[in-house]
Parts: sequence; C-alpha cells; structure tokens
Amino acid sequence: MEEKYGLLGEPIEHSLSPAMHNLWFKETVISGHYTAYSVPKPNLARTVDQLRTLGIKGFNVTFPHKTAIIPMLDEVRGTAGSIGAVNTVIQTDGQLIGYNTDGLGFYEGLRAHFPLLVKQQPSVLIIGAGGAARSVALVLAQKFETRVDITNRTFSKAVFLSEACRRFCTSDALTFQQAEEDIGRYQMVINTTSIGLNPSADQHLFRIDGAAPNTLFADLIYQPYRTAFLQEAERKGYPVMNGLPMLVFQGALAFERWTGIHPDGKKMEDYLLHTYL
Ligand code: ATR
Repeated sequence: MEEKYGLLGEPIEHSLSPAMHNLWFKETVISGHYTAYSVPKPNLARTVDQLRTLGIKGFNVTFPHKTAIIPMLDEVRGTAGSIGAVNTVIQTDGQLIGYNTDGLGFYEGLRAHFPLLVKQQPSVLIIGAGGAARSVALVLAQKFETRVDITNRTFSKAVFLSEACRRFCTSDALTFQQAEEDIGRYQMVINTTSIGLNPSADQHLFRIDGAAPNTLFADLIYQPYRTAFLQEAERKGYPVMNGLPMLVFQGALAFERWTGIHPDGKKMEDYLLHTYL
C-alpha cells in the first residue's frame, strides 16, 4: 500500500519539496507519495488531526507553522525542543513525533560544498535571530565549538540566541554596527533574515567591506537564486552558498527518518537546479 507523506505550510505553491521527495520515492522504490497541503494558520490543528486519522506516515512543516505545531504533537525530540521549532514529523504507533532537520541540513549542505572550510572549524557570524537562525546557530555551535556570533536588528533577540549558543561554544551578540566593524574575524557569514524575499525592502543589511579574503557568504534563501546579499558578496569576489543545499539536505534527513534510507542530496540538488531554478 502506498504510504502518505506531505508538507504543511502557507504559501507552498512554489515549494520544491513534493518534486524532491516523490523522485526519491521513485528512485528508492519505496511506495510513497508526498503531497503539499496549503494550510492557513487557523486550520492547523484540524488538519493535523485529519492527517493523523488518515494514517499519514510523515510530514514536513514549514512557514508559518514550525512553532505552532509543537503542542499538537505527542513528543518532540532532538534539537527541535531547544530550537522551539519542528520541520519534520513522523507517525509511529499513532504517536506524532517532531524533529528539526533544518540546522543539520544546513551543516550537511555546507560539508558537501565546502568540506575544507568545515574541517577548519570556521568562526561564524549569523545575521538574524528568528526561527531559521536558531536552528542553524545551535547546530553550528555544537559542530564547530569555536565561535558563533549573532547580530540582529532587534538586539535583545541576538542576546537570547547567543546565550543559548554559549552552552556549546564562544558566542557574542553584536549590533549591526559592531558586526560591520568586526567582519574581518569570521570565515563564514550567514544571512538568515527574510529580507531577501521582499524585493521592495531596502536590501542593504550592512557593509561587508573589510571581510577577510575567502570568507564564505551564505544565505538560507534559494528563490531568488542570489539574494542582494549574495550578489554583493559575489561581486566582491567572495565564495557564496544559497539556500538550495539546506533545502535538499534537510529533506534528505527527513526522508531518512521516515524510510531509513538516506538519499543522495548532491544529485538531487543538481536536478532541482537544472529543472526548476
Ligand atoms: P524565520 O523563521 O524565517 O527566521 P522570523 O522568525 O520571523 O523568520 O525571523 C526573521 C528574521 O529576519 C529576524 O531576525 C528579523 O529581525 P528582527 O528580529 O529584528 O525582526 C529579520 N528581518 C526581517 N526583516 C528585516 C529587515 N528589513 N532588516 C533586518 N532584519 C530583518
């Protein structure tokens, strides 16, 4: 019997997750189908109940439900609890169990593209302190154990996230102005803010002049393919990484949770790039 999987979010019309997971089901000869469900905020609890009754095997959760879903689950495991956000749910014996594969997905994508940088345990500056920043910051703080600093428009949120990172590594909260002045001390700068999604916003976050040669600039957004932040870094000759590797590797980790099989992330990334972007 074909197992049911899916994605809950809104908007989700442009999501690449259904194409990605359905191709993996085909390639691994697992009988499953992944459907995108457009779920407005007020309908989340009802939809989760319906999917539970339908016997859905697993689903992903995306904007705006990653935090709101937590009270609707039976258990939250791994980093999802400390991050306060779930992106992957598995149903076993009628129990819905939530995980978060976003941060590890970012790390795996980074490892696939910049293995030498990962080996060097880079010091990292994270711009933003929202849900996406939390998942990436906490995983990198644990993996690198060096320095993960946080800068954010709302400084109090940077302080809060920096304190959480300090359990694992050195971490300071910086204002945008301090981050501009100190940018030369980082080997990697990651933009986790949503600013690149809004073409009418002033895209200038802060000056990146003064970054050390070969600093990697990353963004979690992949549509647009290059945010203004990455365009500027690329123009100045820095290596860049957009959000596509994270999308694919968080998906591969979710697929593995559901099926026990870890699919080929890099191959999927090339496919999505050439087919959809
Ligand atoms: P997500 O789950 O995608 O991280 P979020 O929790 O709403 O979404 O967080 C959005 C992040 O983008 C925050 O760090 C936010 O900064 P504030 O905490 O100050 O709101 C940041 N952000 C959004 N628009 C921004 C802008 N125009 N300039 C600077 N930062 C912005």
